[in-house]
Amino acid sequence: MDIDTLILGAGAAGLFCAGLGPPGALVLDHANRPAEKVRISGGGRCNFTNLHTRPEAFLSANPHFAKSALASYTAQDFLALVQSHRIPWHEKTLGQLFCDRSSKDIVNLLLAEATRAGAEVRLSTPIHEVGHDGARFTVATDRETIRARRLVVATGGKSIPRMGATGLAYRVAARFGLPVTETRPALVPFTFGEGRFADLAGISVPVAARARGPAFEEALLFTHRGLSGPAMLQASSYWREGEELSVALAPGTDWAAALRAARRASPKQALKTFLASRLPAALASHLSAELDLAGPLATLSEPRIAALARTLSDWRLRPTGTEGYRTAEVTLGGIDTTALHSKTMEAKAVPGLFFIGECVDVTGWLGGYNFQWAWSSAAACARAL
Ligand code: FDA
Repeated sequence: MDIDTLILGAGAAGLFCAGLGPPGALVLDHANRPAEKVRISGGGRCNFTNLHTRPEAFLSANPHFAKSALASYTAQDFLALVQSHRIPWHEKTLGQLFCDRSSKDIVNLLLAEATRAGAEVRLSTPIHEVGHDGARFTVATDRETIRARRLVVATGGKSIPRMGATGLAYRVAARFGLPVTETRPALVPFTFGEGRFADLAGISVPVAARARGPAFEEALLFTHRGLSGPAMLQASSYWREGEELSVALAPGTDWAAALRAARRASPKQALKTFLASRLPAALASHLSAELDLAGPLATLSEPRIAALARTLSDWRLRPTGTEGYRTAEVTLGGIDTTALHSKTMEAKAVPGLFFIGECVDVTGWLGGYNFQWAWSSAAACARAL
């Protein structure tokens, strides 16, 4: 079979590209349902974009690479499309837009746009080999070898293999001699030694958390295995094995001033009781035990106040690791952007070969940024097809 445009991956980026690209593209996917990650995303409501999308909310070895695509297809552009499909939506927090009903609304939007463009979506089609016969790209499936003038690789990253992630894009890149930056799980919970936070499992607190990147002021969730919640997932994208995390409890609190005021007002109050007035009681108990905080406020010396305030606003924690690709929302790293044209996503050294979506070394923060990258990179590619 000889065709013009072949797209590998019927996920967010692949389907969106099929809907915007030249009529009649063929989309292949080994899964038996399209866009499974869209379906499960955002707790079933798909956080489909973020109104505050800006290049700074993306990690990449080249922070400038995403600028052009993000500027040419914006969050407002995708929102207009959502509205044209009469999909009800709402802003949850921090510019994050979710479906009111279900993420299936976005899956249906993607399929409807692809159908309108005359694309064929072929599911349950494992891809055995990707190559080039000198004239055209070749993709071997169970049934046949498809020859295509243009090949768009939209097979995502390595996160959540049981949802169909295979890392095929990196192998295709290697086959054509394109560089791939180091890949690692991101937006992923941290693990700690056995039982470290077992007494706090299920408790959520507002924090400002940071690894080596910016601080994220969101919720931290204690789990049986470690730390999760949006603040921790965000920090995980900037963390490296062996490093510490910094967690500010009740961010914005001047802990030294609060401790001094409490010592003045209620000198007999136990330190633990004071903490429990500002933090969940279980966390106050946990900290009291961990930091040996027995006794009333009156016994607190100035140096102890300073040390305690430092700990509460810069609690240093060293994870043993992360939950890995099993639960990571995205894959950090990927196809090296130095090998791609930023306006089209086409490989500089291989005309006709494009990489879009999560497989590229552009990774967004939590909050709809990764879907926006899927839409923006797909739109950039579609314009060039
Ligand atoms: P995507 O993974 O969507 O699609 C790749 C497709 O390629 C899949 O259909 C797969 O089956 C197919 N494929 C892979 N290997 C293949 C092979 N060898 N042969 C054939 N087909 C192959 N982001 C966000 O912005 N808002 C959110 O709410 C969420 N929520 C969320 C929740 C969970 C649990 C996860 C795991 C992830 C999110 N994300 C998210 C991230 C978001 O899902 C992700 O960034 C996009 O789906 C990436 O889109 P792509 O099209 O690049 O890959």
